[in-house]
Amino acid sequence: QNNVALKGTATQSSKRDQLGVPEHAINGNKNSGYLSCTHTGHGTGPWWRVDLQQPYRISAVVITNRGDCCWERLRGAEIYIGNSLEKNGTLNPRCASISSVAKGSTDSYCCNQLVGRYITIAIPTREEYLTLCEVEVYGGLVGSSC
Ligand SMILES: *[C@@H]1O[C@H](CO)[C@@H](O)[C@H](O)[C@H]1NC(C)=O
Repeated sequence: QNNVALKGTATQSSKRDQLGVPEHAINGNKNSGYLSCTHTGHGTGPWWRVDLQQPYRISAVVITNRGDCCWERLRGAEIYIGNSLEKNGTLNPRCASISSVAKGSTDSYCCNQLVGRYITIAIPTREEYLTLCEVEVYGGLVGSSC
């Protein structure tokens, strides 16, 4: 399967500066240094989202964490998949909770064929920065046979 995130558009709750733009998580570059990652401002419930433009049946979401510092910030982030933008996508079904936050690691989360156009990653329960170095999304178009 292809990484369908590469054809999506990314957005996030806020920007810390001109560097940590949301597109950095879908540019095909898994470098875990700050300059290759997204970075929200500090706040309650930061989120990042990719719009796949149409619904896909998602088999896995693969996330590369930051490696030059601060990898623990991702602890407790949640991955949501669905077609709703209500509450910035956090009411959609949850694929996984991120508990493994090793330095610069790339971890795969199985999403059991959840269907959705929006993949949202959020830290719902605390004030934090959200940084993602790459988010790959593997799935097939709804209605296709594979
Ligand atoms: C959605 O995110 C924006 C930007 O962070 C925030 O201001 C707003 O309160 C959020 N909306 C909801 C319903 O959580």
